[in-house]
Amino acid sequence: MVISLKEASANTEIISAVTDAISKFTCQDKDVETFLKTKAFEFERRDKSRTYLIFDDITGDLIAYFTLSLNALPFRDTVSKNIVKRIDGFSKDVKAAGIVLIGQFGKDCILAKHVSGEKLLNTCLEAVYKSQEIIGGRFVMLECLDVEKVVGFYKKNGFQSLQFDEKDKYLQMIRRL
Ligand SMILES: CC(C)(COP(=O)(O)OP(=O)(O)OC[C@H]1O[C@@H](n2cnc3c(N)ncnc32)[C@H](O)[C@@H]1OP(=O)(O)O)[C@@H](O)C(=O)NCCC(=O)NCCS
Repeated sequence: MVISLKEASANTEIISAVTDAISKFTCQDKDVETFLKTKAFEFERRDKSRTYLIFDDITGDLIAYFTLSLNALPFRDTVSKNIVKRIDGFSKDVKAAGIVLIGQFGKDCILAKHVSGEKLLNTCLEAVYKSQEIIGGRFVMLECLDVEKVVGFYKKNGFQSLQFDEKDKYLQMIRRL
């Protein structure tokens, strides 16, 4: 079951259980864990992004979450004109394009040990496709550390490497919608 943080925040009957579940969320990527615990509510309130919590249908545990937003993606010089045109849809000469960003995505490393990352990613992509139905959008992007197993996971799921971010910290990966 997927519950949006916005929906949960407005529902006095479930908010304390949701907050409690969030406080217990543990993720292998500590940045992903910290965002949920310390920033997600504020980002929701300021309409900077939308966070969705995935609960196990049987146990009711919070097993994963993801955060979506609309972003500008500036292209670095290393990106080929062909790819720029594929992302933009019209022009190979644009300096940036609009993109749906999966800002955060991660599963609980204990409670979701048995749940496949691919299944959880598909739940996230379902939400992305819903937004595409309403406002369009050609590509979805995510940023991750250049860790072989993580990059391999996204490649297996249809993403390709595009470029590093401006601080050369995160690898930006894209997938055609
Ligand atoms: C990425 C993810 C969804 C993949 O789920 P999955 O396909 O079920 O795979 P697993 O969780 O079993 O992880 C596969 C391997 O990748 C490793 N791995 C996963 N995330 C990692 C990370 N952030 N850093 C280093 N290694 C990582 C795991 O330790 C595991 O290694 P092993 O094969 O030696 O046991 C899940 O591992 C996850 O939520 N990771 C933490 C969050 C994250 O890294 N998100 C990406 C950045 S937004």
